[in-house]
Amino acid sequence: MSTVSTLPQRKITLLTLQAKKDRGEPITMLTAYDFPTARALDRAGVDSILVGDSLGMVVLGYDTTLPVTMEDMLHHARAVSRGAQIAHLVGDMPFMSYQTSVEDALLNAGRFLKDGGMNAVKLEGGREIVPAVRAIVAAGIPVVGHIGLTPQKVNQLGGFRTQGKSAAAARTLIEDAHALEEAGCHLLVLEAMPDRLAALITQRLSIPTIGIGAGPACGGQVLVTHDLLGMTDGFTPKFVKRYANLGEEMARAFGAYIDDVAAGRFPETAHSQPLDEDVFRALTREWEARIAR
Ligand code: KIV
Repeated sequence: MSTVSTLPQRKITLLTLQAKKDRGEPITMLTAYDFPTARALDRAGVDSILVGDSLGMVVLGYDTTLPVTMEDMLHHARAVSRGAQIAHLVGDMPFMSYQTSVEDALLNAGRFLKDGGMNAVKLEGGREIVPAVRAIVAAGIPVVGHIGLTPQKVNQLGGFRTQGKSAAAARTLIEDAHALEEAGCHLLVLEAMPDRLAALITQRLSIPTIGIGAGPACGGQVLVTHDLLGMTDGFTPKFVKRYANLGEEMARAFGAYIDDVAAGRFPETAHSQPLDEDVFRALTREWEARIAR
């Protein structure tokens, strides 16, 4: 009997990611919120694409991730899933889509797979989200955990600051990491924490850790794509490495277009559609006859 797989042959799954970790190969993850970026990332060979709720800050113009809704996330998740065939796709559960009850968490996680085309969901938090994680995993939905700086708690944390600097805070994060692995998370994002704490957590877990501002010892790395491309204004966290300056390049291109249109240099003949000579003559004759009446 032959079996038919609905996944593309090279589709990256949670098994591929775990195998990478077991071989000691770093996992690559980047964010995307739209079709062309997802396509470019997939073609570049990134392992995993996160449709992050950073959407709110880098695309929708909010100061925090808190206003982002499930509808926002699903709209962008669908665009990303149309653009990426190979990468493992993770949908980020927005503020108040899982904190209200385990039932809400399960229903909203399911929407990311049913309506958003995602392969997994990500939730921020430690031991307090274990019941939600267990319920989502029990329904067959892979879960990515996220500890350290958890931006949905920005008001409680007093800003976007490094976490786990004291022994007590570090111990809490280590215990949270164990609890999330035990609850069934298949990846764990470690955001903005000292590198040696991230290394300790990474050593103690069997699942891969994915660092952002957590040093080089993690099982993989994630960045917000708009930060990496230089498309964000204002404060850039120390942990961001810029690989391009697309913000400046976009401003340069927009300025050149405005100058060209203003000076009559665009469009040129090469950008225009010619009209058939006979059609043109006929139209001219009709027009002349009309004004002669
Ligand atoms: O929303 C996001 O982009 C994230 C990453 C920073 C990990 O959660």
